[in-house]
Amino acid sequence: MPPAKPLGRLRLGVNIDHVATVRNARGGPWPDPVRAAKAAEAAGADGITAHLREDRRHITDADIDALVENLSVPLNLEMAATEEMQAIALRHKPHAVCIVPEKREERTTEGGLEVAREENHLAHFIAPLREVGCRVSIFIAADRRQIEAAHRIGAPVIELHTGAYCEHDIAGDIEARDAELERLREMATFASSLGLEVHAGHGLTFDNVKPVAAFPEVMELNIGHFLVGEAIFSGLDGSIRQMRALMDEARAEAFGDASA
Ligand code: PXP
Repeated sequence: MPPAKPLGRLRLGVNIDHVATVRNARGGPWPDPVRAAKAAEAAGADGITAHLREDRRHITDADIDALVENLSVPLNLEMAATEEMQAIALRHKPHAVCIVPEKREERTTEGGLEVAREENHLAHFIAPLREVGCRVSIFIAADRRQIEAAHRIGAPVIELHTGAYCEHDIAGDIEARDAELERLREMATFASSLGLEVHAGHGLTFDNVKPVAAFPEVMELNIGHFLVGEAIFSGLDGSIRQMRALMDEARAEAFGDASA
């Protein structure tokens, strides 16, 4: 039975990668991702998420240095399970590290991590990160096998990949969208029953965030591309505040308590 009440207040992690994408399009210093992160904090972000990719196509090492130096809210460092990234994370010891799959040729993180196939490697990979106090999260599809494997390797947190749900929504395939939403709901409940903290993200927008925000087990949403794009029209402050309001509305509608 899923909990009738949410397990805790739903946090919003703002992903600032695409502020860096715009900056890098010209190669200069503007717009500054750290300034965006500070604006996100001021708008009510509970954390800042940044993905240091192997090819440094958006966030750079210098951005991570500056974020660690300047943030007042927790940093969630997204990264692939490589030795290079592990060394960077161990040097900075961010509040959270989210392990994601990474392919050079992909435009964005396309699928979840194949934890079940790489169990041994990942168990060894995350152990030192946990030892230095990073809260390790594993980005996975809503798949029971992957959740069980994430649990076995000792990860305290999983982040469910909402990309398929969002893509079906954009394509207007309501049946597939609702089926994926149901899978996400069931797997959030299953992961929570194993004692895992559940986060979710990828592709979320004003139009599709509420059903996910209403899952009682979900403790954090990580949202980036849409918020940065929407900032063109309403400013980062406006886009983040509107997203926060929709998340609160979803919690209030589901549980009668917006602070949940
Ligand atoms: N969570 C994870 C693990 C991600 O890799 C990403 C994309 O970098 C996001 C959340 C945010 O996705 P989006 O930018 O589509 O909101």
